[in-house]
Amino acid sequence: MITVRVPAKVNVQLGVGGLRSDGFHDLANVFFAVALGDEVTARQGVGVTLTCTGPDASLVPLDDTNLAARAARLLAAHHGIEPNVELHIAKAIPVAGGMAGGSADGAAALVACDALWNRATPLPELLTLAAELGSDVPFALLGGVALGRGRGELLEPLPVSGGFHWVFAVADGGLSTPAVFRECDRLREAAGTGSTEADLPTPDADPALLAALADGDPVALAAALANDLQAAALSLRPALADCLAAGLAAGALGALVSGSGPTCAFLVKDAAAAQAVAEALTASGTCRTAHATYGPVRGAHVITSADGE
Ligand code: C5P
Repeated sequence: MITVRVPAKVNVQLGVGGLRSDGFHDLANVFFAVALGDEVTARQGVGVTLTCTGPDASLVPLDDTNLAARAARLLAAHHGIEPNVELHIAKAIPVAGGMAGGSADGAAALVACDALWNRATPLPELLTLAAELGSDVPFALLGGVALGRGRGELLEPLPVSGGFHWVFAVADGGLSTPAVFRECDRLREAAGTGSTEADLPTPDADPALLAALADGDPVALAAALANDLQAAALSLRPALADCLAAGLAAGALGALVSGSGPTCAFLVKDAAAAQAVAEALTASGTCRTAHATYGPVRGAHVITSADGE
């Protein structure tokens, strides 16, 4: 039996370029891995079976569309072996929340099955398989802080000093990532800027944000937080503005929608502030629940490995 721990992510910068002919958008995506994470356990099985526990377990698809199941099949096919594994997801990452929870489970399943099946697949090969599963899956393998270019899968690890404290406010109900990207395109067309890669420059990482990460400076990082999908997420879910305002009023240094939302992320100065802001957000009634956490943390890795099961 193998258990793998895998982080959720927040995008401290999500620069979105124009729509490409393949349906994706070019990104300058600064991923940041946080301790709020899932655990995926793999045991010997017959075929691929999947179970899930956790507060949002009823929202997780348990069929072959689940990225964990797809990851197991993809790794087995890569090695020319039968995909025999019982997978279990202990889910803490909000579902459809903009924190790459499904992608995290895909990455964790790759690592867990690789260990269970004694494949020792080199990391570059795992990263290629991860990119086939989804744009955010490679980062969940890597963890830490990284700049993702292309559709987010071309990763460059970034230097970072110390740690940062965060609060995540979880909304009722998720948002569909493709729907949020479509709304971003629609808003751009309505504003007259155009929405395709011919209309818009390729986005780049903000030097002030990179310096704030390298310096471990939460005040500077808070000032540089930026998400080009935020207007689209707010357009589809206007009440998120109340949640962002409630966290800032409670003392957060900075706030933004996490990825395509609807989870809202708040950068705070220390662990005590994280507790206080999480409690204030929960009491505010602007979210379903709030979690205090920190980062960066490492990517998907084995935490328990037991023979004979
Ligand atoms: O790669 P992934 O399966 O996570 O992407 C889900 C959807 O999000 C894509 O089908 C696309 O609509 C949108 N997307 C995008 N540009 C990206 C990443 C995702 O438009 N760079």
